[in-house]
Amino acid sequence: MERLAGTRVLLGVSGGIAAYKAALVARLLVGAGARVDTVLTRGAERFIGVTTFEGITGRPARVEVWEDVPTDTHVALGRSADVALVYPATAHTLAKLAAGFADDLLTTSLLAAGCPVIVAPAMHTEMWEHPATRHNVEVLRQRGVHVLGPDTGPLMGGDEGPGRVIAPEVAVDAVAEVVAGGSVRDVAPAGQASTAEARPRDLAGVRMLVTAGGTREPIDPVRFLGNRSSGKMGFALAEVAAERGAEVTLIAAPSALPTPPGVTRVDVTTALEMHDEVFARLAGVEVIVKAAAVADFRPDTAATSKLKKDAGAPTIELVPNPDILAELGARREGADRPVLVGFAAETDDVEAAGRTKLVRKGADLLVVNDVSAADAGFEVDTNRVLLLDRDGGRVDVPLRSKHEVAGVVLDAVVARLHG
Ligand code: PMT
Repeated sequence: MERLAGTRVLLGVSGGIAAYKAALVARLLVGAGARVDTVLTRGAERFIGVTTFEGITGRPARVEVWEDVPTDTHVALGRSADVALVYPATAHTLAKLAAGFADDLLTTSLLAAGCPVIVAPAMHTEMWEHPATRHNVEVLRQRGVHVLGPDTGPLMGGDEGPGRVIAPEVAVDAVAEVVAGGSVRDVAPAGQASTAEARPRDLAGVRMLVTAGGTREPIDPVRFLGNRSSGKMGFALAEVAAERGAEVTLIAAPSALPTPPGVTRVDVTTALEMHDEVFARLAGVEVIVKAAAVADFRPDTAATSKLKKDAGAPTIELVPNPDILAELGARREGADRPVLVGFAAETDDVEAAGRTKLVRKGADLLVVNDVSAADAGFEVDTNRVLLLDRDGGRVDVPLRSKHEVAGVVLDAVVARLHG
């Protein structure tokens, strides 16, 4: 059974660069069985056309309030919706909603909507952090509007910080939660928790090592054995930890991601290099988070010249790499041992496999992701994890942005630091 079967969703799209992601939101909603009516602001129409939404949803997408006047267009869509999602919600649209404006089809529809309303803000950091926007968001929250995000990450024009629209998958999950009677504010206090200024400083002065990305094991000067890790999960952990006051060293396997603000980055390529950098930097470290996907094996020797196709398929002899996490786990006895957090990429029987790995590698916490899911694990902006601790505890973290997952993992780290 599709989880939004028969649900009537009013999808509002306002005018920011993130409007292009609303097309994916529409597709995911339709895929989940929803009937989607799209209303774009005139600003949104400059970024993405109605035809895209009509093609995806199979229903008219509208901008103007002056069409089909006898059918009460200005209120009909709001009245008939089971849930409304504004994705992205610009600072301007949030201000209009807070003030009760009714000057276009989106605002009239939302004023007429008796259903739950979710907004996914997207804007530059200064606009998000401006007292006017803060006030408007607070007004909307008090009125029962669910505020989803924003996330932290790259913004238009090379900027970086809070203000990035939450991932489409997370928005659609939130719609399903709200339709099921839940509140996205309960599970993800995103409007506050995802901004640097509102994050707790509960890791102030804590020295932390984070590993991220996928190691590359050279076969010859142009080829390597690698994996799909983009570094997003580890970089999100480093970024959120730094925002919470930690002194973070990020040991990064090749990744195109920018270095998070306030983080010291050490670039490595192979598992052996990562091993050496981790063990050279242990002094005074209180927390180690191993989010990197480390190759278990490497070619015994790497050819110094490019292997020629004409020479036939090469035989590549593999030898095991050191298991960095297990080595750390084995030597971490003693009063001042660091809190050790491992990750596990699993595809089958995820909890049992994670529990076994937690014990075998001697970690305190293990974050298990089911990498067979398309919206979790490698490369994507979202993750869905099971957080296990060595004392038998478990926390299910539903689909969230990697920054929000990082926040939950760091909450568990803080709890362990405080005994
Ligand atoms: O980078 P992204 O695209 O955002 O993707 C995130 C991720 C899927 C890579 C991340 O969430 C994740 O699961 N990282 C761990 C992947 C992995 O290598 O899992 P594993 O089950 O093979 O290893 C378990 C643990 O042992 C990991 O903490 C790993 O860092 C560590 N390990 C593994 C092998 C090795 N030789 N040394 C290690 O330290």
